[in-house]
Amino acid sequence: MDPVRNPYAPGAGQRPPELAGRDREIGQFNVVLERVARGRPERSIVLTGLRGVGKTVLLNSFRSMAIQRLWGTGKIEARPDQSIRRPVAGALHMAIRELAPRHRAPDRIEHFLGVLKAFAARDPHAPKGSGAGTAQLGIDVPAVRGRADSGDLEIDLTELLADAASVATDLGVGIALFVDEMQDVPAADVSALCAACHELSQTGGPLIVVGAGLPHLPSVLSASKSYSERLFSYVRIDRLDREAADLALIAPARREGVEFKPAALDALYAAADGYPYFVQAYGKVTWDVATESPVSAEDVSVAAPEAEGELAVGFFGSRYERATPAEREYMRAMAVLGDEPVPTSRVADELSRKPSSVSPARDALIKKGLIYSSERGLIAFTVPHFGRFLRSQPT
Ligand SMILES: Nc1ncnc2c1ncn2[C@@H]1O[C@H](COP(=O)(O)OP(=O)(O)OP(=O)(O)O)[C@@H](O)[C@H]1O
Ligand SMILES: [Mg+2]
Repeated sequence: MDPVRNPYAPGAGQRPPELAGRDREIGQFNVVLERVARGRPERSIVLTGLRGVGKTVLLNSFRSMAIQRLWGTGKIEARPDQSIRRPVAGALHMAIRELAPRHRAPDRIEHFLGVLKAFAARDPHAPKGSGAGTAQLGIDVPAVRGRADSGDLEIDLTELLADAASVATDLGVGIALFVDEMQDVPAADVSALCAACHELSQTGGPLIVVGAGLPHLPSVLSASKSYSERLFSYVRIDRLDREAADLALIAPARREGVEFKPAALDALYAAADGYPYFVQAYGKVTWDVATESPVSAEDVSVAAPEAEGELAVGFFGSRYERATPAEREYMRAMAVLGDEPVPTSRVADELSRKPSSVSPARDALIKKGLIYSSERGLIAFTVPHFGRFLRSQPT
């Protein structure tokens, strides 16, 4: 079929043509927005799940929902070893810029921007010199001294978020700060962020931090602050069930006047296993292969090897390449042990090594986001079907 009209969208953070199977989460976030705007106590949402299940896409949808309610919004993508100070400053700058045109008191906005500038300038990694650290933020008001600029991130964030919330309160709206790849926020910063959210939740300020990250994110947060479970409600984003996976394929096709035979949908579900990234990847190639509507099971079987090839390069291979030889060896040993979470001691046994001698590879893989510790002592791939991919590769 016409590749130009191909609706499917495999790719990191790519908005799917149909956001299938997420009605419950969207309903839940609507309630959060409504309650926070009314100053009611509410836990914010943190999305967790494997690679490619649609966390970023859902986070972006949440952001659109907040924007529709005229909230100010900003988003950061956390990186290991990078303080969140400057990214948070940039995101709040964005959020306030969304609110500024509707605000009646320009001096309130200006004062906040001055505080924001002072906050950003405390970044220890910013280039030295007058205002160089904030130049990129493009804030052209003088920095306000004495607030959110102590250099202690916990104090500074608490003050900054409170001030941002108060600007939003003037307008009867809220501010939502979205944090993607939240498991990568450095430990000290996670702790500061939780503390600031905790403080805000007590004062009822209309600002929420909405996170997304890998399945071990809840344990990262609770290791940092024991009360994090009371701050966030963890929502596990999983693969799509059969009905949702079918809808993800059928709805966009129907808009282009294309149908699927039931056997084609069976074959696509068997191949993609309900994982959103795979649904898009197989859907895309199948569309290109099929010559007429309805799409048949034969079309899917012709398309499958090509889709697998693309996944092997783009989805699996690109991640595998990021690992060092020792880390690859570690993952291969995991793959041999099957697709369920495995005890780290068994991986060491498989490699005929002492657990202590393989733990650096394991820790590096966790940091790279390729594996995660699902429970104490157990380890699993963050990428669905990664074990299967590794087993299919020549050694
Ligand atoms: N609910 C959905 N219905 C259909 N397709 C979806 C859905 N959610 C996500 N997708 C598709 O799945 C792919 C992966 O989505 P996304 O990048 O949001 O995943 P992720 O969980 O953030 O992955 P990662 O952990 O690698 O960042 C995209 O191509 C997107 O279009
Ligand atoms: Mg993502």
